[in-house]
Amino acid sequence: MVQKRMKNILVTGAVGQIGSELTMELRKRYGNDNVLATGRKTKPNKTLLDSGPFEFIDITVRETVEKVVDEYDIDTIYNMAAILSAVGEEKPLLCWNVNINGLYNIMETAHECEMTRVFVPSSIAVFGPETPRDNTPQETVLKPKTMYGLTKVAGELLGDYYFKRFNLDVRGIRYPGIISSETPPGGGTTDYAVEIFYEAVNNKKYTCFVKEDTVLPMMHMPDCIKGTIDLMEADISRLKHHCDFNLTAMSFSVGQLVDEIRKHIPEFTCNYKPDFRQAIADSWPRSIDDSVAREEWGWKPEYDLPTMTKDMLDKLIKRYEEVKL
Ligand code: SER
Repeated sequence: MVQKRMKNILVTGAVGQIGSELTMELRKRYGNDNVLATGRKTKPNKTLLDSGPFEFIDITVRETVEKVVDEYDIDTIYNMAAILSAVGEEKPLLCWNVNINGLYNIMETAHECEMTRVFVPSSIAVFGPETPRDNTPQETVLKPKTMYGLTKVAGELLGDYYFKRFNLDVRGIRYPGIISSETPPGGGTTDYAVEIFYEAVNNKKYTCFVKEDTVLPMMHMPDCIKGTIDLMEADISRLKHHCDFNLTAMSFSVGQLVDEIRKHIPEFTCNYKPDFRQAIADSWPRSIDDSVAREEWGWKPEYDLPTMTKDMLDKLIKRYEEVKL
C-alpha cells in the first residue's frame, strides 16, 4: 500500500476529553482550516470554535457524516465519538448504537470515498477477567464483560477487516485511562484519576468510587496525543498490527496517586465509596505490555506518575488562580 498524505481531517467527538485536545494539535500541525471538528450535541468551547470549522453531526445517522465529508473534502477521519464504559452499562443500547453502528457508518463512508486513513480508538476495556492482568500481552484473551468492551473488540476486528478486505488504512490504539486538564472525561471507569485532581485543588478532599488498592494503566494527555498522531504518521510498511496496539505510560493504585498529590497539597484527603465501577476496574489489566507499539512505530511515553501529577496540579492551580483574579 502506498502511503498518501493526510490533507483534510474530520474529528468526530471533538468536544470530548481526547477529541478536544487532539483537534487543537491537529490544527497546529496541518492548518486550522484543514481540520473539521464535529460533535453531536455538546456546545464546543471558544478555543475550538474560534480556531477552525465546527459542525454538528451524529455518526449514527450516516447522511450527516457523508454531508460534511463531501462539503469539506475529507480524506482522513479520527473517530473519537464513543460512549464510555460506565455510561455504556447504564445505556447499553446507546453504547451499541454509537460504538458499533456509528463506527460502521464511518468505515463505510471512508471506504466509499477511498480515504487516506482512519483512526479508530480502542481501549484496555477489550480485556476481561480471563486475561492476564499484569503486563497484559499484545495477543491474549479478549472476553470483556462490559458493553463498551465488546464494542471495542468488534471495532478492532472491523478496522482490521476493512484493511485486509478493502485496503482501507485503518489504525487504532488500546488507550489506557487518560488523564487531562482541559476537558473532563465523561462516563468512564478511569474518570476518578482525573476528578481527583480537580477535587484536590478545589476542595482538598475526594471521595473515590473505586478502592484504594485499585491499580489501572494510565497515560497523561500529551503522551496520548503524541502517540495517536505518531501512529497515524507511521510508515505503513513498518506496521504488522493495525487497530489493536497495546499502549501504556504508567500504572498506579489510587493510594499511590493520593500520596503523590499530597507531596504538593499535604492537607489533601481521600476516602473510598466503591460503586458498580469497581467491578469494571477489577476486570481490566493492572499493567500493559506495549513492546509491539515500541517496536513497530517507536512509541515511548514521556510522563510518569510524579511528572504527570506535577503537570496536572500546575495547570489546574494556574487556571483557578486566573479565574479568581
Ligand atoms: N477510559 C475508558 C473508560 O474508563 C477506558 O477506555 O471507560
